[in-house]
Amino acid sequence: MTVHFIGAGPGAPDLLTLRGRDLIAASPVCLYAGSLVPEQILTHCPPGARIINTAPLSLDDIMAEISAAHAQGHDIARLHSGDLSVWSAMGEQLRRLRSLGIPFDVTPGVPSFAASAAAIGAELTLPGLAQSVVLTRHAGRASPMPAGENLAAFAATGATLAIHLSIHALADVVANLSPILGGDCPVAVVWRASWPDQRIVRCTLASIQDAIAPAMDRTALILVGRALAQEGFDDSRLYAADYDRRYRPLGPEPRFPEGT
Ligand SMILES: C[S@@+](CC[C@H](N)C(=O)[O-])C[C@H]1O[C@@H](n2cnc3c(N)ncnc32)[C@H](O)[C@@H]1O
Repeated sequence: MTVHFIGAGPGAPDLLTLRGRDLIAASPVCLYAGSLVPEQILTHCPPGARIINTAPLSLDDIMAEISAAHAQGHDIARLHSGDLSVWSAMGEQLRRLRSLGIPFDVTPGVPSFAASAAAIGAELTLPGLAQSVVLTRHAGRASPMPAGENLAAFAATGATLAIHLSIHALADVVANLSPILGGDCPVAVVWRASWPDQRIVRCTLASIQDAIAPAMDRTALILVGRALAQEGFDDSRLYAADYDRRYRPLGPEPRFPEGT
């Protein structure tokens, strides 16, 4: 018996990995985080599966479900939105599973920052503009930020910022970022990326607050940084005709001779 943690992706049911789909189909129990996991993904569950929405449950309730399935020798598909490596609450579940000796594995999913970048057709790392992406958030009611992790400090690096869980605190986000990045810094807000009602607003730090509809108050990603303009950057050296590299050796004495 294994608990299969599966990243269910950002919303579109076909943005689930094949491995995730097959594990769901092979598991007689499915626990899913109902607030963001699309119900169509549950159609992969086998007939008669026990399917539980964990949104209204406590951690103790969830562990009781897992322990009961474990006692019966049933595999469990445990679905969380996006990828499991960020803001999934997987860590606290794994800690308990480890102490109980219950086996688990983890199947990654498409994270919302990648789905949002895809929705706006953008590469977040562009030569000369940004070579790092910071996945971060504003402090929440239940989630204070650790000392040293703050938007202003991240903005000062020049990295592209992918700000999660923060659309409700937009005014504060803008107030933190504007003095460092400037009011003309490009912003893209992607609401429910990959869902049928996806919406995109492209603007600047100075204009974002007027541009956001009141309805976009949840499940939105705020992307901020110079790379979002998608212009004013250099071509990468990767495909430069004069760049001698392992997969395209050049000249009489290539850096990586064929066969090395
Ligand atoms: C609890 S976190 C889950 C993050 C998820 N594990 C991931 O890999 O993206 C929820 C936040 O992720 C972002 N998010 C999740 N799904 C999204 C989507 N389809 N479009 C835009 N943002 C999304 C929003 O910022 C939302 O407040």
